Amino acid sequence: MKIISSVSEMQAFAEELRRSGKRIGLVPTMGYLHEGHLSLIRRAREVSDAVIVSIFVNPTQFAPNEDFERYPRDIERDTSLLHSEGVTILFTPSVEEMYPAGFSTYVVPESISSILEGKFRPAHFRGVATIVAKLFLIAHPHAAMFGQKDAQQSIIIKRMVRDLNFDTQIIVAPIMREKDGLAKSSRNIYLSPGERNDAAILFQSLNKAEEMIHKGEASAAVIIKEVEKIIHTKKTAVIDYVAVNDAESLAEIAEIQKGKSILVSLAARFGKTRLIDNIIVQQ
Ligand code: PAJ
Repeated sequence: MKIISSVSEMQAFAEELRRSGKRIGLVPTMGYLHEGHLSLIRRAREVSDAVIVSIFVNPTQFAPNEDFERYPRDIERDTSLLHSEGVTILFTPSVEEMYPAGFSTYVVPESISSILEGKFRPAHFRGVATIVAKLFLIAHPHAAMFGQKDAQQSIIIKRMVRDLNFDTQIIVAPIMREKDGLAKSSRNIYLSPGERNDAAILFQSLNKAEEMIHKGEASAAVIIKEVEKIIHTKKTAVIDYVAVNDAESLAEIAEIQKGKSILVSLAARFGKTRLIDNIIVQQ
């Protein structure tokens, strides 16, 4: 596995791969890798000849009050994991390399970035879209993998690719979970043992939403109320939002219609740790 930290070297290497007819798969990450990331890497290997994994904790997608400084990092462990996954290139630029002095151009997704996560993290998707656009221009991938875990992020990236004519195919892979259903996340290590146990309630509440929809409940308000009630059985949980949206467009839904894919998504805090999760229900 080749480790590259310079943008120009990464760009040259990617173009070299393309010239030799190789299909490039990119997996953008912020590191502290877990099974969720590895599932994307395995998917990338299936659809490409060369897999590039980026590890970059992107400061522009964190608000000043968020966890940029304390975001977990373990580059040695990540490197050996990627090595054993047969990754072609690990791209680990520094903040200065990605955002040199005077940096002032951003990709700003509109409308769909101000709802759900965007309501609670106003500049978040500007940071995500900007870094992903840069990574696409640097690694020039034929395909890039994203996780359903960050449902809104995947939709925003797909929209960006369409709007700005990137020639990269976006593949979205399912959510990997712990045994008790908690979605794998680099942030799970922040949880105290008690909070960790309580956090399993999120998946349970989403399963209940799915069951209600399958049984014919059409009112989003009724479903949201029930999900909130289940989460509130855990005293450590503070809900930011529970929402029901169209899974393709993210349009808010009041009455669920047959034949639509429904996204039930939520964010909740356990102590200082903010977790997100979601489920797509096929009607
Ligand atoms: P990060 O949180 O490291 O996640 C990297 C990728 O892994 C994202 O596409 C995310 O959706 C996916 N992922 C995380 N947990 C997952 C799980 N349990 N199952 C399946 N996939 C999972 O998301 C980011 O980084 C950043 O915003 C990034 C896109 C790298 C831009 O900085």
